[in-house]
Amino acid sequence: MPAVAPSFILKEMSAVPNKTFYLETFGCQMNVHDSEKVIGTLISQGYRQVETVQEAGLVLYNTCSIRDKAEQKVFHRLADYKALQKQGKKFGVLGCVAQQEGERIFQRAPHVSLVCGSASYRNLPEMLVQIEAGKSRVTGLDDRQTDQTFETEYTARSNPHRGYITIIEGCDKFCAYCVVPFTRGKERSRTSDSVLAEARKMADQGFTEIQLLGQNVNSYRDPSGKKTFAELLASVGEIGGVRRVWFTTSHPRDFGKDIVDAVDAVPALCDHVHLPVQSGSTRVLDLMKRLYTRDQYLERISWMKAARRRISITTDIIVGFPGETESDFAETIDLLNEVEYDGVFSFKYSPRPNTPALTYIDSIPEEEKVRRLAVLNARQKEISAALNQRHLGETLEVMVEGLNPARGQWIGRTSQHKVLNFTTSGGEEPRIGQYLPVRVTATFPNSLLGEMTV
Ligand code: 5AD
Ligand code: SF4
Repeated sequence: MPAVAPSFILKEMSAVPNKTFYLETFGCQMNVHDSEKVIGTLISQGYRQVETVQEAGLVLYNTCSIRDKAEQKVFHRLADYKALQKQGKKFGVLGCVAQQEGERIFQRAPHVSLVCGSASYRNLPEMLVQIEAGKSRVTGLDDRQTDQTFETEYTARSNPHRGYITIIEGCDKFCAYCVVPFTRGKERSRTSDSVLAEARKMADQGFTEIQLLGQNVNSYRDPSGKKTFAELLASVGEIGGVRRVWFTTSHPRDFGKDIVDAVDAVPALCDHVHLPVQSGSTRVLDLMKRLYTRDQYLERISWMKAARRRISITTDIIVGFPGETESDFAETIDLLNEVEYDGVFSFKYSPRPNTPALTYIDSIPEEEKVRRLAVLNARQKEISAALNQRHLGETLEVMVEGLNPARGQWIGRTSQHKVLNFTTSGGEEPRIGQYLPVRVTATFPNSLLGEMTV
């Protein structure tokens, strides 16, 4: 008769020690919000979050695969902690690398026992049971086309004042360089009623800022047909108690003037738009399959510049895309000068699996990509510094985000999404989440400094 291990022994050997977990998040705000869903789900299953890998029974990485460097980071982390498997720790890979690499992760990092893409987080409770039962290969990868994936029942929002709401998942744009349509799947929007119900609930709980999230929020299509994106934005901004509404990310092709009209009409809509351009050259935009020209992009910028409030504008730019010539790059620098962005996130082109650009010849040498990035960043630093200088002497409203004890400064954020650090001259201590007027006394390229005026 074969020996059968009594179940209590099996449990002793394989359960996640102490039901504790450590979670590290890489990548964008979508991932940050996904992690809030994962944390809530784990807590609902009796787990406790800890601050270090050493304390944790279950070590999770919510991963990003947007550029190769981001993807490599998670494999380095896994390698660093491999030896800890001997202590009974379990390892899991979540998010975009999980979706992209699937079961190959088990070959690259055999100590991983859980691989789960973002659309499967609602199945985590069952997967955790399997892991606790000692199963060494648990996957959740196959239901990313469903419509039920916006929220799990449990979302542990980490900030009690500013909260994310996913309004659209996935992306149908297929830009030539981008892995997102492959990791996040097809576009699925959530009904406006469901978004508004969640926003109202959050306002009742005391949230004053709401950030609407999606890979491409401007593609939002209300499945019930009730509201356009701009109308949804306005409705969220009109909820009592909501003081600021943000939205990200926008795609220029779908960015309508009605969004700027909504910002004009509803004071709670923030005067900040992130509108990724990627390149200032129409020729490169065409190669990138971005579906707009430089002039069409500039038309959208002109709508924002004509708004009642000054809208701060930020963007993403890729340098060294295959075939980008010196004169294409000069057009990007020229675009920076013309638009005068408040901030730019700049990246060297990184070839990604499955993407159409993988078949293009990656013609720009690494040193040249590095040089272009440095030129772009240096120019942008001057522009950001000059724009920030215009705030000198102004009094701006900040939401208090925290305290930097080393500097003795409070950290605030303006409605233009700028960091405004400030000091107080005695009186009552500011509270995190409070809105306060701050007078700007010094400016830098990436932040402002000021004094509380009350
Ligand atoms: N290489 C470099 N940057 C990329 N991005 C997306 N894909 C790539 C890639 N393959 C950048 C884009 C996008 C931002 C989130 O990341 O600028 O807007
Ligand atoms: Fe990274 Fe894009 Fe995935 Fe966000 S959606 S985690 S940016 S690959």
